[in-house]
Amino acid sequence: MGYRVVVAGATGNVGREMLNILAEREFPVDEIVALASRKSLGTECSFGDKTLKTKDLDTFDFTGWDIALFAVGSEATAIYAPKAAKAGCVVIDNSSLYRYDPDVPLVVPEVNPQAVEGYAKKNIIANPNCSTAQMVVALKPLHDRARIKRVVVSTYQSVSGAGKAGIDELWDQTKSIYNPTDSKPPNKFTKQIAFNVIPHIDKFMEDGSTKEEWKMVAETKKILDPKIKVTATCVRVPVFVGHSEAINIEFEDFLDEDEARDILREAPGVMVIDKREDGGYVTPIECVGDYATFISRIRQDSTLDNGLNLWCVSDNLRKGAALNAVQIAETLGNRVLKKG
Ligand SMILES: NC(=O)c1ccc[n+]([C@@H]2O[C@H](COP(=O)([O-])OP(=O)(O)OC[C@H]3O[C@@H](n4cnc5c(N)ncnc54)[C@H](OP(=O)(O)O)[C@@H]3O)[C@@H](O)[C@H]2O)c1
Repeated sequence: MGYRVVVAGATGNVGREMLNILAEREFPVDEIVALASRKSLGTECSFGDKTLKTKDLDTFDFTGWDIALFAVGSEATAIYAPKAAKAGCVVIDNSSLYRYDPDVPLVVPEVNPQAVEGYAKKNIIANPNCSTAQMVVALKPLHDRARIKRVVVSTYQSVSGAGKAGIDELWDQTKSIYNPTDSKPPNKFTKQIAFNVIPHIDKFMEDGSTKEEWKMVAETKKILDPKIKVTATCVRVPVFVGHSEAINIEFEDFLDEDEARDILREAPGVMVIDKREDGGYVTPIECVGDYATFISRIRQDSTLDNGLNLWCVSDNLRKGAALNAVQIAETLGNRVLKKG
C-alpha cells in the first residue's frame, strides 16, 4: 500500500519538478493528483510515462489524501494549506509562510531529518529557501567536525528562483537586446536582468538587508544551529537554473582544506569537484537536473585562524525546492507514516 499524493502548483517550475522527482525516485504512490489555479484546469502535466490533467485547487477536497506537496506561493498557501492540514493531509510547503513558525518543522533531510517528527502540531512541514537548502547541506558535515562560528555568503541566484515569470523575463529581454524595436523593460525584476546582475532579491528590511538575506540567516539557525552567525548578500544573475554561492566559513577549531575535502566527499547529498586547474570546478549549467549539491574551490582562508572558502552550486528547482520536498515526504514516510 502506498500514498495518495497531491501536488499543488503542478503547472509551475517547482511543481513540475516535484512530479518528475516523485516518478524518478519511485515514491510509493497509489494515486496522484495535479492541482493549480482555475485558469489551468485541464492543463496536462507529466508524471513518469503518465499524463495528468490539472484540477482546480480551490474546489479540491483533501479528505483521504495522505501528503500534499505545495508550491503555489505564500498567498495561496495561506488559504489552502490549513484546509488540507485540517482534512488530515500532511502539507509539505515550499513557500516561506510557515518556515519560521515554531510549531512547523523546517527540514533538510541530510541535516535535520529527525525534525519531521514534529509535523503533527499543524500537520505542516516547511521546505527552506533554495539558497539555504544547498548551503546547509555543505555546512553540516563541516560543522560536525570543527564547529562553525560564522558564515559570510554571497549568492549568484538564477532567475528560475523567481518562478515562471522570472524565466520568461530573462528570455524575452535577452532577445530584445538584439532587436531594439522590441523593447522589454523590467517587470518581474526591478532592473534589467539580461546581461546584468541585481543585488536585490525579495523586499527590503529595516536594517538595509533584503528578506532573502534574512531568510538565509534565520533558516540556517533553525535547521543547523542557532549559534551560527550568518551574513549574506543575495544577488540575481542572468542564469536560467542553478544557484551558486561563494561561502566563507570561520570555525572554532582548525580544519585543514584537505580534511574538509575528504569530509565533504563522504557527506550525503554532496559531490566534490575540486581540481585546481582550468575547468576543475562546477558551474550552474552543469548542475541542472542533478540531485547533488556540488562543492568546488575548497581552500584555506589565510586571513583567519580557522577559516575556509568554498564554492557551492546546486539546481535550485531540485535540491532548493522539489527534491528537498520529496525527500521530506520520503523521510516522513520512513519515520512516521510507514506505508509503501
Ligand atoms: N523556484 C525556486 O527556486 C523555489 C525554491 C524554493 C521555493 N520556491 C517556492 O515555491 C513556490 C512556487 O514557486 P515556482 O517557482 O514554482 O512558481 P511558478 O513557476 O510561478 O508557479 C506557481 C504555481 O502556483 C500555482 N498558483 C499560484 N497561485 C495559485 C492559486 N491562487 N491557486 C492555485 N494555484 C496557484 C500556479 O498555477 P497556474 O499556473 O494555474 O497559475 C503554478 O502552478 C513559491 O512559494 C516559491 O517561493 C521556489
